[in-house]
Amino acid sequence: MSRMSTELGVLQNSVYPRIRNWFIGLPERLPYMIGIAGAGKVGAQSALEIASTGLDDISLVDIIPGLAEGEALDISHRLADAGVDVDIKGSSDFAALKGAGLVIIAAGLGRKPGMTRMDLLSKNSVIIASVSKEAAKYAPEATILMVTNPMDAMTYVALKTTGFPKARVVGQGGVLDNSRFKYVLAKKLGVSRSSITSLVMGEHGENMIPVASHTYVSGVPLTSLLTDEEVQQAIDDTRKVAAEVISKKGATIFAPGISVTRMAKAIVNDTKEVLAASTYLEGEYGVSGLCMGVPVRLGKGGVEKIYELKLSDRERDWFNKGADTLREAISSLNLQ
Ligand code: NAI
Repeated sequence: MSRMSTELGVLQNSVYPRIRNWFIGLPERLPYMIGIAGAGKVGAQSALEIASTGLDDISLVDIIPGLAEGEALDISHRLADAGVDVDIKGSSDFAALKGAGLVIIAAGLGRKPGMTRMDLLSKNSVIIASVSKEAAKYAPEATILMVTNPMDAMTYVALKTTGFPKARVVGQGGVLDNSRFKYVLAKKLGVSRSSITSLVMGEHGENMIPVASHTYVSGVPLTSLLTDEEVQQAIDDTRKVAAEVISKKGATIFAPGISVTRMAKAIVNDTKEVLAASTYLEGEYGVSGLCMGVPVRLGKGGVEKIYELKLSDRERDWFNKGADTLREAISSLNLQ
């Protein structure tokens, strides 16, 4: 942590609780303490990545007794050597989320080899409804960042269960899918990954859209560098690559952790970064009443703006197909 942020941290942790006592109605803690519900592979990796940046203190919660505490200790020891002074706590009590300005939800079942994300729908929707209620109870001012799959449907479940404004419920999928698209393209083109500007939007699932029509290599359109067949191959590879990782090592962990961190940084530091993320649509891209991945501006208010892009006919078809899949998924859920 920089000296300035260390001093702010001290102010936040020691002086603020006392000042708060003088003014009834002030929140228990200044934003942002970061809560993470689910201290499994992705939750713990996200905690490690976020903590390593010194972004803010973290409170990890998991229903398995001792797991969150163990991960918090392990991460704290790892950071001590690096001299990073953020506080990481673990608990099996959701009250530990109290006062969080950002709650990341990575609780629930992950895909096993051969499963699609949508295969997790019914079991994870029950978990996410319960976790979201706890988050709303203990962190009513928080922005929720959904990770659990099927992520777009779970973002919708969290939105409905918490009753939070739509800006404060957002899902991570596009940032990760885009990192995979960049990886695939960089290999195919023989260029640095840093030269690629790209976007993956739509459903975080079988119908994801690596948006080739708006992908550039330092300003040169992708469509002028690859044939239609090569572009389609890159899209297919991007869609399949997570399943390949799961079939080989059982889960995706490191790449999701850094994608979650990027979104957390944009929200906590109010950077206004424009990233693809799942948000509730009300007519944008011709879709209403669903959460889906689109380019958004992220800041301290969560999703501050949705950007509408002109898609090719094929991309628009995929977007609509993703919307149909999600509409069907949501209608199968019994949301109270
Ligand atoms: P994991 O099985 O390692 O961890 C899940 C954790 O959730 C477990 O520790 C479990 O005890 C906990 N949990 C279950 N019910 C809970 C509850 N009610 N309250 C608190 N904690 C609870 O799974 P992993 O690999 O960490 O994946 C988590 C989720 O993230 C999965 O749904 C997976 O598909 C999804 N995922 C999403 C990605 C994305 O880009 N959106 C990328 C990778 C994974």
